[in-house]
Amino acid sequence: MDASTLYALRDAAGVPSHPVIFLILGVATWALHIAAVHVMLGASALTLWGAFSKDDLKRRLAATMLNTAKVSVSIAIVIGVAPLLFVQVIYDPFWYASNVLSAWWVIGFIVILILGYLAMYVFYYANKDLTAKKGVTCPGSMVISIALLLVVGFIMHVLTQQMLSPEKWVEWYAPNGVINASGQKIHDYNIWRFLFFISLSAPVTGAWLLAMRRYLQGKEAGEDANYLALLGSLAQKLAIIGGLVVVVFGALWMATLPEKAAGFALSPWVIVTAVALIGTVLLPTLLGKKLDTGFWGFAPFAVGAVALIILGTAREALRFTILYGVHGYNPLDYKIVMDWYSTILFFGTFAIIGGAALAYMLTVAWQVGQSKEKVYTPSPAVDKIGTVAIWLIVAWMVQFFAIGFYVWVR
Ligand code: HEM
Repeated sequence: MDASTLYALRDAAGVPSHPVIFLILGVATWALHIAAVHVMLGASALTLWGAFSKDDLKRRLAATMLNTAKVSVSIAIVIGVAPLLFVQVIYDPFWYASNVLSAWWVIGFIVILILGYLAMYVFYYANKDLTAKKGVTCPGSMVISIALLLVVGFIMHVLTQQMLSPEKWVEWYAPNGVINASGQKIHDYNIWRFLFFISLSAPVTGAWLLAMRRYLQGKEAGEDANYLALLGSLAQKLAIIGGLVVVVFGALWMATLPEKAAGFALSPWVIVTAVALIGTVLLPTLLGKKLDTGFWGFAPFAVGAVALIILGTAREALRFTILYGVHGYNPLDYKIVMDWYSTILFFGTFAIIGGAALAYMLTVAWQVGQSKEKVYTPSPAVDKIGTVAIWLIVAWMVQFFAIGFYVWVR
């Protein structure tokens, strides 16, 4: 497709800050999104695995993983919104074309997500305490939940994939010249790319289990050594075996890149990403006994997070290479209509409101698990962080409506 046609599809209003900001935020928030997706999928799979077992330790893990899965679905959704906004801002000609071509699936995305999440809760209510009973009730609900959540991810993959081929849009919209405006079809996907992103959940969940293990080691009341051993060995297997599968799917994805981007497969982006991912999966083995000391048990997850940011950058570089290198569309030359208020509000909200609220929640979450007491009571200092966070949110809402009112009456 002609680059001028693509440029004509841009929002004439321009963007409110430099496009590179949206690009960077898009990559960073996508990395957070996919990390939450990985923990969600890994925790859901381990829930099923443990629930079918007769072993008390595996059942205990299943009960914990079910809670982890419930929370991580909501985190994956909330954090997924951020890259969705950023991709729409700088890649709107591509993103909306791709969405319209498969509109049914875009709308279905929400319905399927709701059903998938509900199915997880059906399983939860049917198996509230997996440690107290021996069997598992209604396992099908968890299988359905995982399947539907995967469909949701697949829809996102399709939208991302279709936007990379503007030269095929007209043929997809009007096959053989006959318009099909139904939006019911999925036009493009690369199964290896999708499986690559999904299989990453194995090593990421392995790193998550190692962090959990280290956290439990710090408990004041002490922790069952057998449970810690189960977590350790499972984490290692997930990292190594999962890592191998990831490398295979990654190689197949690169081997099946469209001809116009085939050269990307051996680019420094891919090599650096491969080194980061392989380094992460080998890290637990390299650290060995050190994992039980200091903060080392958390290192694989932290390094994994950095590896995901590197992966997100390479994923973005591939998109840039195709859309700019092949089709002449440069997301960085978007017209800027600088809006300082919204830019400062965004970063201020993120740093001040987000910082205070997260500091409170993470401190409480950390201390609850470590405390020996049956009922945890936060210290006055922690209480204060919570109170400050709430007042900051109130102040945020007041300024938001005050500015809106001022602009309205001005
Ligand atoms: C809960 C199940 C979900 C799963 C399993 C999932 C999985 C994925 C995967 C595998 C990708 C990478 C696709 C690719 O690059 O080929 C992706 C991208 C993305 N996902 Fe999710 N996702 C889920 C939910 C969501 C939700 C609820 C949102 C938004 C509210 C969302 C927003 C995004 C965005 C914006 C992208 C990147 C689009 C782009 O950069 O082109 N995801 N997701």
